[in-house]
Amino acid sequence: MPPEPSRRPVTHDPDHIPVLLREVVDLLSPEPGQTLIDCTAGLGGHAAAIAGEIGPEGRAVLFDLDPGNLGRAEARVRSVMSPENPGSCRVDAVRDNFARAPGWAGQRGVRADMVLADLGFSSPQVDDPGRGLSFKRAGPLDMRLDPDGPITAGELVNTLPEGDLADIIFRYGEERLARKIASKLVAERSAEPISSTDRLAAIVRSVVPRKPGSIDGATRTFQALRIATNDEIGALEGLLGSITRAGGRLGGEGCWLAPGCRVGIISFHSLEDRPVKRCFSALVQEGHAETVRRGVVTAGDDELASNPRSRSAKLRVIRLGDGAAPGQ
Ligand SMILES: C[S@@+](CC[C@H](N)C(=O)[O-])C[C@H]1O[C@@H](n2cnc3c(N)ncnc32)[C@H](O)[C@@H]1O
Repeated sequence: MPPEPSRRPVTHDPDHIPVLLREVVDLLSPEPGQTLIDCTAGLGGHAAAIAGEIGPEGRAVLFDLDPGNLGRAEARVRSVMSPENPGSCRVDAVRDNFARAPGWAGQRGVRADMVLADLGFSSPQVDDPGRGLSFKRAGPLDMRLDPDGPITAGELVNTLPEGDLADIIFRYGEERLARKIASKLVAERSAEPISSTDRLAAIVRSVVPRKPGSIDGATRTFQALRIATNDEIGALEGLLGSITRAGGRLGGEGCWLAPGCRVGIISFHSLEDRPVKRCFSALVQEGHAETVRRGVVTAGDDELASNPRSRSAKLRVIRLGDGAAPGQ
């Protein structure tokens, strides 16, 4: 399918421009009166741009685990009005895991015309040393996106058996020195619990030699622990499973996705992109969906120059069918 021309005005907040904003709006193609489920509301940048298109008859359901981000997103989306759209769209702000979005919508008879997930974390979360998400900032070893989440990264690092710790670092960090790092962490924690980001980073760096021009030696281990702490792959698999099931029964009783629903997912590493690609390809092969843009959409030169986080962003978008698989 040839690339669709960009045809929509996009609102910018100079303090926060989300990744692939124009591409998301173009490819989700919102229409007045439609319903968006934004699985990862963050600071509300994508949702606000879409809110401007769906108008006062539309509805935006915002999910986020982080109450601070969710509040900012809700305020931002509610403030989207224009001379043509004197009222904001209907907004539901839900502080919960997006894996539970399908159940939330199904119970309320809400059917999404668009589903968006912009995975991972936002800049204010990683910039806040108190969240413990960055190896560049000294802080408590927390890493929870949901401040009331069941387990911190510190608890994982200080209590997991060495083999489990190594498995996490290997699987979610794709770190080939995982066994060595886990062994060092277990030795260090027996002397004193590892409770801060800077101590964790120093221990990991002592095992991972830094080559000139390569990433910080702590990068992969921090990514792995963040993913494990927040069960990020589990949540994504849960969402994809619900999309797959809905794809086969669009229009059915209690189905949370409307016929023709567009689903866009932005991932930042291959552990996220692989299951998205697999899920979308299967839906297309089974005749339940079509790709809106072939392959992945990545940032253009302008965005790459202004937003370093966009470097690894990959957007995939499908449009689900109108209810029946071929031959049905
Ligand atoms: C990259 S930010 C989203 C930015 C957003 N698209 C915007 O325009 O501002 C990701 C957000 O997803 C949230 N998040 C991550 N995993 C989540 C999950 N499983 N359920 C709900 N929210 C989640 C994070 O707390 C964060 O606020």
